[in-house]
Amino acid sequence: MSEKKKYYITTPIYYPSAKLHIGNTYTTVAADAIARFKRLTGYDVMLLTGSDEHGQKIERKAEEKGVTPKEYVDEIVAGIKDLWKMMNISYDKFIRTTDDYHEKSVQNIVQKLFDQGDIYKGAYEGLYCTPCESFWTETQVIDGKCPDCGRPVEHAKEEAYFFKTTKYADRLIKYIEDHPNFIQPESRKNEMLNNFLRPGLEDLCVSRTTFDWGIRVPFDDKHVIYVWIDALLNYITALGYGSENDELFKKYWPCDVHLIGKDILRFHTIYWPIILMALGLELPKQVFGHGWLLVDGGKMSKSKGNVVDPVVLINEFGTDPVRYYLLHEIPFGSDGVFNNEIFIKKVNSDLANDLGNLVSRTSAMVEKYFGGIIPNANEAEPIDKELISIALDAPKKVEKNIDNLKIPEALDEIWNVIRRSNKYIDETTPWILARDESKKERLGTVLYNLLESLRIVSVLLSAFLPETSGKINKQLNIKLTTWESLASFDGTKGGTKLEKGDVIFPRIDVDEKLEMLNKIREDQLKENQQANIQPIKEEITIDQFDKMDLRIVKVLACEPVKKSNKLLKLKIDLAGEERQVISGIAKYYKPEDLIGKYVVLVANLKPVKLRGEISQGMILAAATDDDSKLFAVTIPGQLPTGSQVR
Ligand code: MSP
Repeated sequence: MSEKKKYYITTPIYYPSAKLHIGNTYTTVAADAIARFKRLTGYDVMLLTGSDEHGQKIERKAEEKGVTPKEYVDEIVAGIKDLWKMMNISYDKFIRTTDDYHEKSVQNIVQKLFDQGDIYKGAYEGLYCTPCESFWTETQVIDGKCPDCGRPVEHAKEEAYFFKTTKYADRLIKYIEDHPNFIQPESRKNEMLNNFLRPGLEDLCVSRTTFDWGIRVPFDDKHVIYVWIDALLNYITALGYGSENDELFKKYWPCDVHLIGKDILRFHTIYWPIILMALGLELPKQVFGHGWLLVDGGKMSKSKGNVVDPVVLINEFGTDPVRYYLLHEIPFGSDGVFNNEIFIKKVNSDLANDLGNLVSRTSAMVEKYFGGIIPNANEAEPIDKELISIALDAPKKVEKNIDNLKIPEALDEIWNVIRRSNKYIDETTPWILARDESKKERLGTVLYNLLESLRIVSVLLSAFLPETSGKINKQLNIKLTTWESLASFDGTKGGTKLEKGDVIFPRIDVDEKLEMLNKIREDQLKENQQANIQPIKEEITIDQFDKMDLRIVKVLACEPVKKSNKLLKLKIDLAGEERQVISGIAKYYKPEDLIGKYVVLVANLKPVKLRGEISQGMILAAATDDDSKLFAVTIPGQLPTGSQVR
């Protein structure tokens, strides 16, 4: 027998820093569907996932909780594994970067890179984003904030080891140009080439000394290895690379596809291939950066309190509705939205109506007209032939789409068979055939064709909605589920008995469930608001408050401060006195929007210079904690300028 073809697919390894939300589960569900489909079509598949457990962020979180980093991650990783179980993720291996074998292999690899001169000692000075574990240059940060996550960066200086990425940059550019499928989708490839590679790389800082929670640099134990190097190497250490037993590595490498979110593309398409080049290893065949799952109103984030919890959805609706929404409703590669109402309506229309009804109608008719015994098919009429050809074409079409990572389109092909089958029932009207004993054979053929179409549907669905596929197989007594069996329309065995089962997808009361989900969201927002509110400051006396002089002023003129995208320069009138105030509100107001407004000024604040401009006081403004929204405090009417605010 010839050896099976190999397929190696990976998800990112997850930070055990917070509860995973529906956006995080997206990559993994997609990878699972692809892996299952490849297994179905005969590949020997390795689906790798895991957890990325080192770094300063974890160390800090553990400290806040008063536990060791290992205790902290152990608990969260157990939760991640539970979630994958709930989502039915068929991973072949779960790697933890705290696993002994990984730590040893990473050290071996870093030692090798040092020995061959690709890693050298230097000093790092720059801006560091702790949540992203990323160093940035002055030109990369935006308004003092991390260009990836928008949180403030901190100044950091430390002795550090560097990796000679610059040495490999030209080779990588050429590789990307020569391998058009390496970075997908296409637009992301251009972004990497034009924004990062072509303008020139800097050597990458690959060690840290300011915290402990990481893998030690083997030749200098004051240092721990930069968490992204540690993390990226998981894709090969999980297969035994760098250890004594690298059989799996020899078997599965190079990886067929690294599936990741677009936010971590830079690490996967620049630093990762360069590390592999330095190790003299083949590069992965493809890195696919999918889009973001947004909620109404933007990015899901813990601080906004708008994260969608997959566990709530699964408990309420089951795993497959959630999988279906993720796999079908989000265009793979672009951003998509998670919306409660669309979710519920889709479950009703596509799952309960189209698929669920087809299964229950078909089995009910076999029950009613043939006592539950599957009839045999007789000669096909033209209308049968059309259904048969659609059903027989579907597997190849689904396969082609999956090969191109077009997951929603693959599901469309399956639904094409489902919808055609429903139409076939309406066209062949089995209930009318049933009235006439002489049409019994024809009735049997019609029902056989429906059962056989459903068999094909169910086998194909096993990759995407495995639980549902299992239920259909059970109800319709489907035994033949191999890929090869989809090549002919005769896998259903006449004479066997169907098993009565529950409705696969009960119809959902849209209003009731929507109200429930909306209520959960509101409660979550409230809870989050309370948890995130800045603590009220220390008490002051009325005399202390009285020292602050707040006055109504009118904005006479306003313009941006040169070379700053944050600051506005306001000329204000205070009872006939003209003052200048510099205010960091350029992101929220166009200068012309402020002119003529009556605002509140802290009038006795000691003047300071900002970007070389004098600021005589401060304008009051109200803002959200994350500064995503800000409003200057204005008064609804007109008061003489200089009026006191008390
Ligand atoms: N630990 C790194 C990955 C290291 S891989 C060598 C990491 N972890 S993460 O937990 O922050 O993110 C895991 C995955 O979830 C990433 O692919 C990320 O892009 C994805 N997503 C996080 N939020 C998301 C959405 N809202 N929507 C879609 N994917 C999102 O990054």
